[in-house]
Amino acid sequence: RAVPQALPSSLTFPSVAKSVFDQVVLPPGYSFSILHAAGDPIDTTVPAYTNAGLEKDDWSHRIGDHHDGMELYYIDDAGRYSTTATSRAVLCVNHESSADSHFLHPEGQTSNGQSRKKFDQFGFWDLGVRPELEVLKEINLHGVSVVELQQTGREFSYKIDSTLNRRITPETPMRIAGPRDQLADIQKMMRTAFDATGATSRGTLNNCGHGMTPWGTYLACEENWARYFQIAPGANPGDVNHVASLKRYGVASAPLDPKAPRASSQGWHTVSSSDSRFSRWNLAVLAAEPTADFRNEAYTFGYNVEIDPLNPRSTPVKRVTMGRFAHEAAVCGIPVAGKPLAFYMGCDSVNEYIYKFVSKELWDPKDVGGGLAAGDKYLNEGALYVARFDADGTGRWLELTFKNPAIANFATYRFANQADVWVNARLAADAVGATPMDRPEWGAVNHVNGEIYFALTNNNVTHRTPAKVNAVNPRSYADPDGRKSMGNPNGHIIRFREDGGLSTAANFAWDIFLFGAEDDAGPANLSGLTAANDFSSPDGLWFSKATGICWIQTDDGAMTDETNCMMLAAIPGKVGDGGKRTIENKLTIAGVEQTGTQETFVGAVLGEGRLKRFLVAPKGAEVTGVTETPDGKTLFVNIQHPGEKTPALGVAEGFKLESSWPGNMGYGKPGRPRSATIVITRDDGGLIGL
Ligand code: FEO
Ligand code: CA
Ligand code: CA
Ligand code: CA
Repeated sequence: RAVPQALPSSLTFPSVAKSVFDQVVLPPGYSFSILHAAGDPIDTTVPAYTNAGLEKDDWSHRIGDHHDGMELYYIDDAGRYSTTATSRAVLCVNHESSADSHFLHPEGQTSNGQSRKKFDQFGFWDLGVRPELEVLKEINLHGVSVVELQQTGREFSYKIDSTLNRRITPETPMRIAGPRDQLADIQKMMRTAFDATGATSRGTLNNCGHGMTPWGTYLACEENWARYFQIAPGANPGDVNHVASLKRYGVASAPLDPKAPRASSQGWHTVSSSDSRFSRWNLAVLAAEPTADFRNEAYTFGYNVEIDPLNPRSTPVKRVTMGRFAHEAAVCGIPVAGKPLAFYMGCDSVNEYIYKFVSKELWDPKDVGGGLAAGDKYLNEGALYVARFDADGTGRWLELTFKNPAIANFATYRFANQADVWVNARLAADAVGATPMDRPEWGAVNHVNGEIYFALTNNNVTHRTPAKVNAVNPRSYADPDGRKSMGNPNGHIIRFREDGGLSTAANFAWDIFLFGAEDDAGPANLSGLTAANDFSSPDGLWFSKATGICWIQTDDGAMTDETNCMMLAAIPGKVGDGGKRTIENKLTIAGVEQTGTQETFVGAVLGEGRLKRFLVAPKGAEVTGVTETPDGKTLFVNIQHPGEKTPALGVAEGFKLESSWPGNMGYGKPGRPRSATIVITRDDGGLIGL
């Protein structure tokens, strides 16, 4: 794809006003249609979606729920990936979560016949025993969908009977991969009753952001997989080292933390203790050998899963060398022939880190179209690093290697070998002193200059008081409306430039591109935002190769009293185009005012010409996932979880729907809200955004 050599100086469309309407709002002159929504059939064996709670589990034949990261793959005449537009393409979409699965059951989500409104004093739902049918639906709505597109004029739809259509679910077999000489060590950690050798594992889960490889495969990143597991109180959680790992990854808190009497799992393990589709979610040690239970099941999640979207019979691969954490997205720096490839990856939880994987093999453009074999070449052997951001505006990549005594002799967790370092990368990153961040969400590469951007969505007051800020996470303040959100309620976007522009650089220069804020936030509005472009909690982040626009998508709870979530367009400058700045922090915690100052480096103020609100989502939805046709004239965007705040009541009380999108615009059966992919075009056929 051609990349613009220089960026335009301003955006041409009028900024969209904040909105609380239950609809997608775009600038005048732009239109959208829906490509697919949760539950739509992807083959002809299942009927149309009823939108009233399916009577059986046929989700492996339907578009999954909670659309998230996505990418478009063109196909050449030989059926291989093409870097330029052709007449055939597939769209891969991540289906992240079953958090709104009450919409999928006729009477809402239930347990022991009780609707989910029965929360206990700790805010956790009493799991009881979940109905098998509900759980099977909830399991199989997760994963990835692949559908072949068809285009009529500028209109896109998908082919319901394409042999390329595919669903990958938590039940799909996966190959465990790593360097040849360490694969046995990796597989030893993955041994379960599903595969006593640990060579394979079952399924992928909570696929949030994504990555695209230069050779044309898809990386589905596994984010909040830890929440699906449980160990019953009183059960044996395993040895001290294993428990240290479970705790660090937030897995199965109940028996590990006496203050958490229930885990917030989905209760999938409660259905049956003998059917492994359900018992696999129980991590308790139940037998003498790990091959007789599922104590190791959590070690099989938390990876980048490589999928060949053009080969429906291929087995997806878990790339262990890229590290195990709450993977949000994986962005490849600009590939340079004859140089190693670098992938930048965020771990999205409070105070987690940003990582870099550098391949051992040098990029050879002849590998384009090479599928999973190319993945084996570039993604199994390499070095994993974690980022430390320093107060002088530079940063350093710290290698996560067993050869480092700080890792080999770490007190909190006893690493066995390098395989253990990849699998417990969070602990290894703790050992080397990585910088805890305000929840790293998507990364993105600016194709014009190779700089890497990361959205830091927000952080809470436990972790960001005025005394607990640092140069790259410098803010601690209260929401201007005096509501409870504070710490860093609105998030920010950072960027960095590798020394020499090299994938292998050990050091980088950074600054803060944008601070989220409400326009009336006073000193907390550090990027000069106005009513035309104020935003909160950036999450999705992506640069168009056609226009150079940086698209910013939000997943917010702090500003939703005045607007639904949104997507903005920005024309960025570069690292260092602003300057040093001292931030004054102020926060009242438990009646005591805390103040402090923090020096940081901020980018140039963009103003209303270079930062505009382009889209506002329906009620309760986040905006996530974005890609384009190479001509820059069609934009694909995902609307996730409209109606998120709908109480999970049984049908007896009636759903009090926060949203009924997209049924309210005539798509499918009216009623319950559905996640969907929308296709945006300009009525005059021009470039999106310029
Ligand atoms: Fe699934 Fe971090 O958003
Ligand atoms: Ca406000
Ligand atoms: Ca996200
Ligand atoms: Ca988010």
